[in-house]
Amino acid sequence: MKVGGKSCRSIWFDDDTMTVKIIDQRWLPHEFRIVELDRRAVFATAIRDMWVRGAPLIGATAAYGIAVQMAHDPSDRSLDETWKILHQTRPTAINLRWALDEMKTLLRPVPEAGRAAAAFQRAAEICDQDVECNRLIGCHGLEIIRKIAAGKKRGEPTRILTHCNAGWLATVDWGTATSPIYHAQAAGIPLHIWVDETRPRNQGAQLTAWEMAEQRIPHQLIVDNAGGHLMQQGEVDMVIVGTDRTTAQGDVCNKIGTYLKALAAKDNNIPFYVALPSPTIDWTLGDGIREIPIEHRDEAEVTGVWGKRDDGSLARVQICPEGCRAANPAFDITPARLITGLITERGVCAASPEGLAGLFPERVITER
Ligand code: MRU
Repeated sequence: MKVGGKSCRSIWFDDDTMTVKIIDQRWLPHEFRIVELDRRAVFATAIRDMWVRGAPLIGATAAYGIAVQMAHDPSDRSLDETWKILHQTRPTAINLRWALDEMKTLLRPVPEAGRAAAAFQRAAEICDQDVECNRLIGCHGLEIIRKIAAGKKRGEPTRILTHCNAGWLATVDWGTATSPIYHAQAAGIPLHIWVDETRPRNQGAQLTAWEMAEQRIPHQLIVDNAGGHLMQQGEVDMVIVGTDRTTAQGDVCNKIGTYLKALAAKDNNIPFYVALPSPTIDWTLGDGIREIPIEHRDEAEVTGVWGKRDDGSLARVQICPEGCRAANPAFDITPARLITGLITERGVCAASPEGLAGLFPERVITER
């Protein structure tokens, strides 16, 4: 997508410097900082400490992490160790394991002398594949938005609520939940996006709102608790969210708070869609509530917030009594029964074993 009018991806290999570069998302929207990831430990820190975040981007970063390590030490031991170190960085997004497995399976039979080149090539392909999947998600999602927009008066916007950041910053480009929005904008459909702030890390306020502004898409930031009220008032036409892991039966794990939005949408008869590229599907799991590991993050993310002071400096402020304890589950599960449909690169399907099997017959037969 565009930043200041210039096309940009969230991760790329810079041919001039021969290094991997990312946008360090911790500073957005206040500062746009690009950093170089040059060794395994830095890749691990970048994923764990959320310089990069979002399931598809975590996977792409891990793939390049393996490639960079192969350039330093292409041995089997180094490959296995790197898989393990990067896999431990974040537990919930399944794209991480998917990308690491892709790299390991490819590299294992390659002689050591050829491993770095093969790894860089595959990492680049994983990035390109993510971009294409998300572009296709946009094409399929556009048809859903088109139908809803057709029921509106001329010029009246289609109002879409989204949670967390499932935008291009969470992927390599396009985003998952935002790709249908960008395609609808290009098709001339008037839009209004409700952007959930998404406590505790405020990915909606800091990232999605920034993305929408850069793309000139009308939007308003809302506190997480406002969604249900807006739905009751008839102010929301549809919900589109992303996911960090979706099971073979269609249960969706996404940023904490997604489940409450799905409950409110169900109660108000509002379509609730989840946009996902196929590497986000964990074909080995069925019951998301029992089987998906939920990341629990630092209490400090809940007890304080980061932001910009009036003097322009960035600061964290404490929002509760000193010593107050906090719980910080980072994701929740939305059961398949609350989901209207899954928007994938192959089309839209029901959130059910049959729906997913219909779009991905080869995966279900071999992996379950
Ligand atoms: O903790 P994060 O910021 O890595 O989590 C990302 C999300 O949960 C997003 O909502 C997103 O939809 C999943 S990635 C497209």
